[in-house]
Amino acid sequence: MKPNTLLFEIAWEVCNQIGGIFTYIKSKVPTMLDTYGDNYMLIGPYIPEKAKLDFRPVREIENVALAEAVQHVRSLGYEVHYGYWLLNEARPKVLLIKPSIHGEHLNDAKTTLWKNHGISTIEKDPLTDQVIAFGEITKILLTKFIENLEISQDVIAHYHEWMSAGSLTGLMREKIRLATVFTAHATLLGRYLAPNEEHYCPKKHSYNWLQKAKQYGIESRVALERTAARSAHTLVANSDITARECEAFFERSPDNVIRSGIHKKPGVGHEVFEQHLLHRAKIDAFVKAVFFPSYHIKTEKMLYFFSSGRYEFRNKGFNITLESMARLNAELIRRKSDLTIVFFMISKQPFQTIRPDVLEARQRFHDLQKICKSISAKLGPRIYSNVTSATGHKLPDLNELIDEDLQQTWRQALANFKREGLPPVSTHQLENHDEIAEFCQRNGLNNEAHNPVKVIYHADFIERTTSLFSLDYLEFVRGCHLGIFPSLYEPWGYAPMETIMHGTPVVTSDLSGFGKYIRTMVPSDKDHEVKIVDRQGKSEEEAIAQLTETLHDFVETFEKNQYIPRASLPKHILDTFCWSELQQRYHENYKLALMRYQPVADLY
Ligand code: GLC
Repeated sequence: MKPNTLLFEIAWEVCNQIGGIFTYIKSKVPTMLDTYGDNYMLIGPYIPEKAKLDFRPVREIENVALAEAVQHVRSLGYEVHYGYWLLNEARPKVLLIKPSIHGEHLNDAKTTLWKNHGISTIEKDPLTDQVIAFGEITKILLTKFIENLEISQDVIAHYHEWMSAGSLTGLMREKIRLATVFTAHATLLGRYLAPNEEHYCPKKHSYNWLQKAKQYGIESRVALERTAARSAHTLVANSDITARECEAFFERSPDNVIRSGIHKKPGVGHEVFEQHLLHRAKIDAFVKAVFFPSYHIKTEKMLYFFSSGRYEFRNKGFNITLESMARLNAELIRRKSDLTIVFFMISKQPFQTIRPDVLEARQRFHDLQKICKSISAKLGPRIYSNVTSATGHKLPDLNELIDEDLQQTWRQALANFKREGLPPVSTHQLENHDEIAEFCQRNGLNNEAHNPVKVIYHADFIERTTSLFSLDYLEFVRGCHLGIFPSLYEPWGYAPMETIMHGTPVVTSDLSGFGKYIRTMVPSDKDHEVKIVDRQGKSEEEAIAQLTETLHDFVETFEKNQYIPRASLPKHILDTFCWSELQQRYHENYKLALMRYQPVADLY
């Protein structure tokens, strides 16, 4: 590849977290910047409430060709923002495009899709409209930009999933000078068929894609996805699962299967344990704030389990996880166990606000902590001076050492802290009917004092600035004892991978790309610390039974040893997850795309 080759990475989850593609892009950016430096840029949708979190706009665009292209797009009345994505480890350049075009232009774009590609978009679907608008504006921008470049400079556009790829086919049809790559991270039909068709198993010719797309009311979306995947110079899948779906739904085998990676290998031994303790203390504080106003729990006998991911109740295995937690609850009650398990469900659902009573409980708990601190600050010196002047061996009356004011503040704070009623299951006021909340209500997972399994449902992604734990997501993961991800449909699965990489034991399934990969690399479950629930060809009941047993074993280990060791993966597997290594494979793929786009040119 020529050293000045430009690379655009285009994804709907740039500055816009929805699911795993956000983690994919975010974790890959530092390695991409190391490799492509200034020639690397991201394009994503402009969603104002998301952009305000970590996008820094820049007025002046140094690159003249880009400045002109942006100016051109703006002159047509479209909204494009240029700036930096503020990530922890890197600051890549980004273009954010507002995915909206005027009605008549949208109709023109739809007519073109129908005439040129046979894609019908007449059904009413606001997301498809946004995708088409995003595609149109991206196409205008890239076309203008490439026009302004030296003819010798190569350009690659790497698209992720259908929502980003509205411009791909148009650019190719108009023979714009760029090589295109499409990565399938999952397929639309996969997401719909897996939870609805018994023993979903995609194979070549096993499904009629059009008939299935119509059946689920997603014809235009699927047609857009399929056309992009079939047209791109190269097609990449993130696992064998997605590769099979590409064959079944797109009738195209991917050129490469490249798994999703991570930026850095985790720390080692004591470091991992210290981090766990540090972050666990913050989770402890939150749990005390929410539960102690209603009743007391022994924190030294408490375990933190969690599940997280895109809100797909059955695909992510939330249904079987909750059922297993309910069974574990019943079993622990039967055994009169003195353990408490706090189970955190983390996913994103529309909500109005964080519940005011949760915020208030947290504030009151902070107040109590502050008072405790000032009591100990006052008590310390007083005990000391009392002890040095005392003659006997008896402790002084501690109450006498604290002045009445402080005692009064303490009594008041304590009275304010106590609450009638149960600790809430959901930390947010949800806008809609919700399967998780409903399951908990129906199955007695209601945080009553006698239930050993408590549930905290946090219907928002965990960000340090917006979450209730004062932690970022990975810190939260480190503070927990077990991550549970027994997915039914999971082409790769960042959640289980990140969890074990950060030292927290994990359960996943044999239907996740990550679980399958671990099984291939280390066939015996005993030789690694990823527990894998068998879901392939199994009934839901069988999966629940196996998961419940796995959870029991975990709890029993804790009861026996009073300790949960931090987890890790064998080094030879860990090495295969680093972007520094996987990036090479993308590099090869980019070369292939360039070669297909200009077969006779000298690419090296
Ligand atoms: C999609 C898949 C998920 C994968 C991610 C990154 O979100 O559903 O399994 O981990 O893409 O490739």
